Amino acid sequence: MLQPDDLYLDHNATRPLSADARAAMEEALNKCLVNPASTHRAGQRSAQLLEEARAIVARTIGLDPRAVVFTSGGSESNQLAIFGRFPPGRPAHLLVGSTEHSSVLGPARALAARGTAVDVLPCASDGTISPETVLDKLRPETALVCLMSANNETGVRHPLEEIASELIQRKVPLHIDAIQSLGKEPIRWREWGATSLSLSAHKIGGPAGIGALVLDRNAPFQSWIPGVEQERGRRGGTPNLLGTLGFAAAMARAAQDSADRAVRDLFETSLKQVFPGVQVNGEGAPRLGNTSSVSFPHQDGRVLVAELSRRGVHTSVGSACHAGSATPSHVLRAMGRTASEVRGSIRFSFGPEHSQSTIDALIRRIREAMAALSAPEKIA
Ligand SMILES: Cc1ncc(COP(=O)(O)O)c(C=O)c1O
Repeated sequence: MLQPDDLYLDHNATRPLSADARAAMEEALNKCLVNPASTHRAGQRSAQLLEEARAIVARTIGLDPRAVVFTSGGSESNQLAIFGRFPPGRPAHLLVGSTEHSSVLGPARALAARGTAVDVLPCASDGTISPETVLDKLRPETALVCLMSANNETGVRHPLEEIASELIQRKVPLHIDAIQSLGKEPIRWREWGATSLSLSAHKIGGPAGIGALVLDRNAPFQSWIPGVEQERGRRGGTPNLLGTLGFAAAMARAAQDSADRAVRDLFETSLKQVFPGVQVNGEGAPRLGNTSSVSFPHQDGRVLVAELSRRGVHTSVGSACHAGSATPSHVLRAMGRTASEVRGSIRFSFGPEHSQSTIDALIRRIREAMAALSAPEKIA
């Protein structure tokens, strides 16, 4: 539970439920939501609500509603997109970025284990992957390239438009994990040249457990939940209608949001003045305006996160899905950071509620946390 004077700086992990999403779901709970596949009138009304939600999600990013497949969230969308392009028994080649989310790297590993050729694309020290790197690894049988629009730990963006124009010329499909861009920058489906794209509601103030896979109608795709017909045969299972309504309400609001770089930039400048040794991971690269991955020299990020949390500052050491694991960030390692830099890294991810006035309080609490950690009894 957040306290009134807490500083919640973990928006890339999740954004607290927005008032719009809550209101939309509360209103829906007062109606009788039933299975939208039922043919009776109550079912038809539920199907209509589902289609209205789909239209809002699609319209917000300038798409045909038929392209939107509701899923249980970003992880499922990524898996659906990848496994849907690699039916068992068909030899093909997959390219994935080295800094992708584990819900992309996991399926890539699973495909490799069953004989699919998989190449992992190395990134530069600023976290970006260049068109040349992609072209270098491309093969005639490459069936899919997976790249994220913005990294969840560092906010770093690849030059997607340039990469896409090379892939379009060669007719190679591109899957984009756009989960971190949603609500922070425009989703440029067409300019990015994506054949599929993943979205997740809880990153924009919608409920967790609902997301979407956007699918180009012309791209080959095979559902891996065969035998069930929901979502036009692309994702079986009774849809989470309540979740889709919360997602649509959050989406309508998120379309008006964009990350205010000024707050993040002020934070980084102020932090470097107070702690001249800190390093910003991916600093020179194009980055999301709300994300700052910072490496504190000679610190243990986990200990600092805990110390900050005691002072009401909520941050994380990196990806939320690895927060409990001792595995060092694969993103920072791919960027060539040393073990000690990785160990000392923390991610601050700002949200629309933050302004330049947040930064004074934040820097003060970081100073207090660092002072507490260097007190003699903590050094032992
Ligand atoms: C870049 C990225 N991809 C995928 C996911 C997974 O999304 P979800 O939590 O909805 O499964 C996340 C969430 O942490 C993410 O940041």
